[in-house]
Amino acid sequence: MAGRALGSARALLAALLALALWALLVSPARGRGGRDHGDWDLAKLLPPLPPREDAARVARFVTHLCDWGALGTISTLEAVRGQAFADVLSLSDGVPGGSTGVPYFYLSPLQLTVGNLQENPHATLLLSLAQTNFCKKKGFDPQSPLCVHIMLSGSVMKVNETEMDFAKLSLFTRHPEMETWPSSHNWFFAKLNITNIWVLDYFGGPKIVTPEEYYNVTFHKKLYRGCWLVQLLYLIAEALRAQRGKVTWSRSHSN
Ligand SMILES: *[C@@H]1O[C@H](CO)[C@@H](O)[C@H](O)[C@H]1NC(C)=O
Ligand SMILES: *[C@@H]1O[C@H](CO)[C@@H](O)[C@H](O)[C@H]1NC(C)=O
Ligand SMILES: *[C@@H]1O[C@H](CO)[C@@H](O)[C@H](O)[C@H]1NC(C)=O
Repeated sequence: MAGRALGSARALLAALLALALWALLVSPARGRGGRDHGDWDLAKLLPPLPPREDAARVARFVTHLCDWGALGTISTLEAVRGQAFADVLSLSDGVPGGSTGVPYFYLSPLQLTVGNLQENPHATLLLSLAQTNFCKKKGFDPQSPLCVHIMLSGSVMKVNETEMDFAKLSLFTRHPEMETWPSSHNWFFAKLNITNIWVLDYFGGPKIVTPEEYYNVTFHKKLYRGCWLVQLLYLIAEALRAQRGKVTWSRSHSN
């Protein structure tokens, strides 16, 4: 009897697996480099916006949800040397549900921002829930503190050999197109070493969060453990999708 129960449990699991894989493969690449950027479907698995009292958790929530941010640097361009400069950078702090809080980037020396960083690695990263459907849905203007946004200051540094695989998995899972970016641009993996954090999630001024409090938050780990199966299927689906993307890229660049 126990055998039969186990058998039907296995059959059920197999059916669920097949269904999950099918759903992942046929679903459009929404948000992960596709349309509705930032509105990725797995966001539904994340807990709702954390309570405002817990600013560190709010900051981690925003970092994990954002696929990209605006990075402010000090310019080395002759016309605006020494002045503030900003550009968009795609980023990831881990695969969906696997947040680390560390914003990883895939950079090329050809980027203006990277030229700036080579002279002065200090930078500030702005991330906002205006990049997701959160603010629009709630009717919050992007400048309203209710449309939660955070500023992360620190220095941008190359990741070492040990951390590279993790940075690559984190970025390429959420930005499958990166894998097809031309290698002649000498892309490398980098991260923001965060030293200061400001959280704007309500009226009355920004809240200060220390990096220690920020990295101490663990809520995503619990989620990650619960959904390892989904995570695995997601990675497989993304790898297949990236493969398809590679084909498209070489086709469109061969003529
Ligand atoms: C690489 O970087 C990680 C994260 O900063 C660190 O924990 C690790 O010790 C570094 N490894 C080496 C060999 O420097
Ligand atoms: C990150 O920045 C802090 C503060 O400037 C510094 O003490 C620390 O060494 C940096 N971390 C790495 C891995 O360079
Ligand atoms: C880290 O988290 C634990 C458990 O949530 C908490 O008790 C502790 O005070 C936190 N430490 C810091 C520095 O935030």
